[in-house]
Amino acid sequence: MCGEWNTLVEETAGPANKQAGRWGDQQNWVSSSKPVPLTQVEDSSHARISTGLEELDRVLGGGLVPGCLGLIGGDPGIGKSTLLLQVASSVARQAGKVLYVTGEESLGQLKLRAVRLGAMEERLIAVSEADSEVISRIIAEEKPLLVIVDSIQTMYVQEVASPPGSVAQVRETAGRFLQIAKGGGISVLLVGHVTKGGALAGPKVLEHAVDFVLYFEGDVHTSFRILRSVKNRFGSTNEVGIFEMTGQGLTPVANPSEFLLSQRPVDSPGSVVVPYMEGTRPLLVEVQALVTPTPYGGNPRRQTTGVDYQRFSMVLAVLEKRQGYPLQTQDVFLNAAGGLKLQEPALDLGMAVAVASSHSNAGVDPLCAVLGEVGLAGEIRAVRGVEQRLRELHRLGFERCIIPKSNVQGNEPLQVHGVRTIQEALEIALRKRR
Ligand code: TYD
Ligand code: MG
Repeated sequence: MCGEWNTLVEETAGPANKQAGRWGDQQNWVSSSKPVPLTQVEDSSHARISTGLEELDRVLGGGLVPGCLGLIGGDPGIGKSTLLLQVASSVARQAGKVLYVTGEESLGQLKLRAVRLGAMEERLIAVSEADSEVISRIIAEEKPLLVIVDSIQTMYVQEVASPPGSVAQVRETAGRFLQIAKGGGISVLLVGHVTKGGALAGPKVLEHAVDFVLYFEGDVHTSFRILRSVKNRFGSTNEVGIFEMTGQGLTPVANPSEFLLSQRPVDSPGSVVVPYMEGTRPLLVEVQALVTPTPYGGNPRRQTTGVDYQRFSMVLAVLEKRQGYPLQTQDVFLNAAGGLKLQEPALDLGMAVAVASSHSNAGVDPLCAVLGEVGLAGEIRAVRGVEQRLRELHRLGFERCIIPKSNVQGNEPLQVHGVRTIQEALEIALRKRR
C-alpha cells in the first residue's frame, strides 16, 4: 500500500516539475525584463551558417541564423528529406556537428540515401527516434550546431495521450524544439507534411512558433522544384529557390526559364509563353490549352493543372461574353507546364490566348509572349515588374510581347504590342503570320 502511494506521488510530481523547468528554461531566452537600447542588442545575422545550397541560402535571407527554428513543408515525395540531408551534410562538412533525427526511415535507409547523395560526413550523426524527451537528452549530450527533425508528425511527448501527428502532439513537440533552439542557440529544422488541401498538417500554432516556413513545391512526376518562403523573421518572403531533382539529389537550376521551355512544342495551337513572376524572379512558363467539343449530351468539362481555377473560370466567362466564343459546348483543359502552381493575375491574358488559339486551331507566333491581367469588361490591366519580365524574354531570344497598353514605356528591349482590350490582344496573337 505504502509503495503504491509513493508511486502515485512521484507520478504526479514528475510532470509538474518538468512544467516548472520548462518555464524556467523559457525565461532564459525571453531574456531579462530590463529594456536595453536597440543599438546595444547583439546582432546575430553576421553569424549565419551557409546551408551549402545557394538557392536555399537566398530564400532564407543569407543562410541559417543560429538558434532558429524553421519548418519545411511539402507533399510526400517532393524531396524534403533529400534537401535536408544535403543541408545536414554540407553544414557538417563546413561548420560543425549535425544531428539528423528520423522518425520515418530506418538508419539503414537513411544511410543508403546519404551514400547516394555523397552526403557521408564524420560530423553528421543520425538517430532513429521519435520520443522528444530522448531527443532532448541526445541533443544536450551531443551539442550539435544543427538538428534536423524528419518529421514533426512522427514525434511525440509521453505526457500527451493522443497519437503522433495529432494537433496536441504536434503543438507540444514543436514547443520542445522551440526551447531547444532558443535555449541552446541550436538551429532546428522541422519537416512538416502537407495535407491534401495543401495546408501543413497540424495546428496553425506551428507556423506561429517557428521563425520561418518554407514550402517545397512542384509536381512529383516532374523534376522541377520551387522552394518558397511564406514566413521569414530573418528576411524577405519574396525569394524563391529553384531546383531540379536529379540522381545526385537536388541541384540548383541556373536558368529556369530555359529549363521550363525546353519541351515546348513548336508552333502548336493552344500553346503560349507567359513571362511569370515568382517572387522577384521572372520565369518563362508555357501555358497550354486544349479545347474540344463536349461529347453529345455531356456536361462541358473544365480542367486545370497548375493555374488558379477561379481566374481560369473568369477568363473563360470573359471569352464567352465579350468575344462570343461558344465555350458552353466545349471541354476546356488548361495546363501550366513544369508542375508549377501559378497564381498571378498577369497570367490571365496568356490563358485567354491559349484557349482562343486552341479553339480556332491557330498557332501563336513562337517568338511572341503574352502578358496582362484581364478585367471583367474584357479590358487589359497593368501588371508589375514588366521591365524584368521583358528582359528575361529578350535574354531567351523572344522577339515580341503583347503587354497592357498602360505598361508601355517606349524603351523596351524587344518589340511590344500595347493592348487595351482582350479583343486587340487576340487579333494580334492569332493574326495569320507571313
Ligand atoms: P524525399 O526526399 O524522400 O521526399 P520527402 O521527404 O519530401 O517525402 O524524395 C522523394 C523522391 O525523390 C523519391 O521518390 C526518390 C527521389 N530522389 C531522386 O530522384 N534523387 C535522389 O538523389 C534522391 C535521394 C531521391
Ligand atoms: Mg521524407
